[in-house]
Amino acid sequence: MPHTNRRVFIRQYREGMPQLEDFGIEDVALPEVPSGQVVVKVDTLSMDAWIRTTLTPGSFHETAPLGSTIRALGVGQVVESADPSLAVGDWVYGMLAAQTLALVPAAAMTKLDLSNSLKPADYVGPLGLTTGLTAWVGLIAVAEVKAGDTVLVSGAAGAVGSMVVMLAKARGARVIGVAGGPDKCRYLTNQLGADVAIDYKNADVAAAVAAAAPVGINVFFDNVGGEILDIALENLAPADARIAICGAISQYSDLGNVRGPAKYLRLAERNAAMRGFVVTHHAARFPEAKAEIAALMQDGKIDLPEHMVEGIDHFAEALLLLFAGGHTGNLLVRP
Ligand SMILES: NC(=O)c1ccc[n+]([C@@H]2O[C@H](COP(=O)([O-])OP(=O)(O)OC[C@H]3O[C@@H](n4cnc5c(N)ncnc54)[C@H](OP(=O)(O)O)[C@@H]3O)[C@@H](O)[C@H]2O)c1
Repeated sequence: MPHTNRRVFIRQYREGMPQLEDFGIEDVALPEVPSGQVVVKVDTLSMDAWIRTTLTPGSFHETAPLGSTIRALGVGQVVESADPSLAVGDWVYGMLAAQTLALVPAAAMTKLDLSNSLKPADYVGPLGLTTGLTAWVGLIAVAEVKAGDTVLVSGAAGAVGSMVVMLAKARGARVIGVAGGPDKCRYLTNQLGADVAIDYKNADVAAAVAAAAPVGINVFFDNVGGEILDIALENLAPADARIAICGAISQYSDLGNVRGPAKYLRLAERNAAMRGFVVTHHAARFPEAKAEIAALMQDGKIDLPEHMVEGIDHFAEALLLLFAGGHTGNLLVRP
């Protein structure tokens, strides 16, 4: 059966923040489905910061060739199959990209487990690779959070940050979240249960962190980088603090001139550790992570709000929204 796919592609590279005219949208006819491949109707795409880094030459996430469909992880349902491992109607997760229909190798897709009342969108949310699993890996596998720790989280009202706040609270930590604006700060304390929220757009962040953590921070989960990393280093606990470098969204627009931490000697002075991570390098622990997150979802201790952008034609706007901080919780696109 012939299928028409609507896709968003990269038209041109740009230094700094992409603009809407850097993206194109077109309808294309899909070819006959080759053996080993499937057609997936894309249901929900995860809007992730790494996508932006593919839109410039020299990207550390592999530069997208001009004309290629913008890469994005998502969930969808198989509508045609030429592979015995997947049947029409199966739900899958994988690199479906910014389009309505994806022609993909069946072997590149992961079939979703929808038992125990899990929904497909949970796999781009609390159980998503770039959302819940990233939060779990950084907080638990890398930073080894313990009950009683004081945890500082930057980008706390975003997708990963919200998950970190909820996981840290569930593990018995005291949580200080940093986010932009009073609404996001109210969300952190009232909805997610953070103990303290700091509005970095309106507060003296250094003074606020020092006041919120008078005996220092045991764990810093960094999504933002730049100034907040130095503030965290300056406020580390006297011994054995752990910093997990998840990302540095404040630095992605000029990767050739990333601001490094001036206060890194605090690591040596306070016997602290700072470690970056790539979530996929910790795949051996995903079953443990998924079990913990799913149990917390069932108990109502994890409920990640969705900000859904409707329509594939709005994919590029959603990407810009991510960097403008125009969402709270998990930013998703429904093609
Ligand atoms: N290491 C890994 O394997 C891995 C995997 C997935 C994601 N990540 C990283 O995780 C981080 C969070 O990603 P996400 O998808 O969950 O995004 P997100 O937190 O949902 O959205 C990004 C947020 O960053 C904040 N922000 C944007 N520009 C900023 C700036 N210049 N200064 C301070 N804050 C800024 C905005 O919040 P405000 O309104 O509060 O400013 C925005 O809402 C990113 O750094 C990403 O690269 C890492």
